Amino acid sequence: MSTLPADVALVSIAEVWAHRETFIAALSERERAIEAAIRIEKRRRDFLAGRIAAKRAIQRSIGCPFARISILASSDRVTHGRPEVAIDGVLRPDLTISISHSGDLAAASMGGGRVGFDLETVERRDRSFEAIAFTERELASLRSLEGRTRDVAVTRLWCKKEAIAKWKGVGFRAAFSELVDPDRARIEEGAFHFRGSEVRWARVLG
Ligand SMILES: CC(C)(COP(=O)(O)OP(=O)(O)OC[C@H]1O[C@@H](n2cnc3c(N)ncnc32)[C@H](O)[C@@H]1OP(=O)(O)O)[C@@H](O)C(=O)NCCC(=O)NCCS
Repeated sequence: MSTLPADVALVSIAEVWAHRETFIAALSERERAIEAAIRIEKRRRDFLAGRIAAKRAIQRSIGCPFARISILASSDRVTHGRPEVAIDGVLRPDLTISISHSGDLAAASMGGGRVGFDLETVERRDRSFEAIAFTERELASLRSLEGRTRDVAVTRLWCKKEAIAKWKGVGFRAAFSELVDPDRARIEEGAFHFRGSEVRWARVLG
């Protein structure tokens, strides 16, 4: 289904949701309590599929049963929401993970250090979005592009920005202008097709 790095796990949100009883049973107690408290169905679907993708990625790496793995969220003021891994209830800062959702897909990437991962489906975005999201330099790189080429370039830039936001751990609490290629990090990018749409991915490591 994809050309993603081997340590990225990808799931269909609809498929996970269709088997939600089985997957909810595979959550840790803390995750189950969080899932049960979510009121908006879309958010429940995304949450569950993101946890399952993250557990798959971690299981591939350390061979641990799903229920022993908890993907929690940082409660720190600065990095609020950043996923944190616990095994048997003990936080494991050495096991870094980043989660993304786009359309029907949820994916999770292991890091081996700080990691930020993002998935974006290529689609047309309004020009007003570009003016808000991108720096002068980024806008200049788009200037001569039109049509599909432009849609791909905009999606690619945005996907990288989200991955950088997650790598930094601050999300969009940072200004978009600060979310540019970090000096001492490695950026990987790619694309694959899913049900007729092009999906871009970006990962920041290091
Ligand atoms: C991180 C952020 C850029 C992701 O954007 P998004 O549109 O939700 O996109 P994605 O689906 O690709 O990513 C969601 C995942 O990002 C991760 N994430 C959330 N906050 C994060 C942070 N501070 N650092 C790293 N990763 C984070 C979570 O794993 C989340 O999935 P989960 O909640 O199911 O675990 C955005 O959620 C954000 O800025 N969050 C922090 C600030 C905030 O809550 N602002 C309110 C909206 S501006």
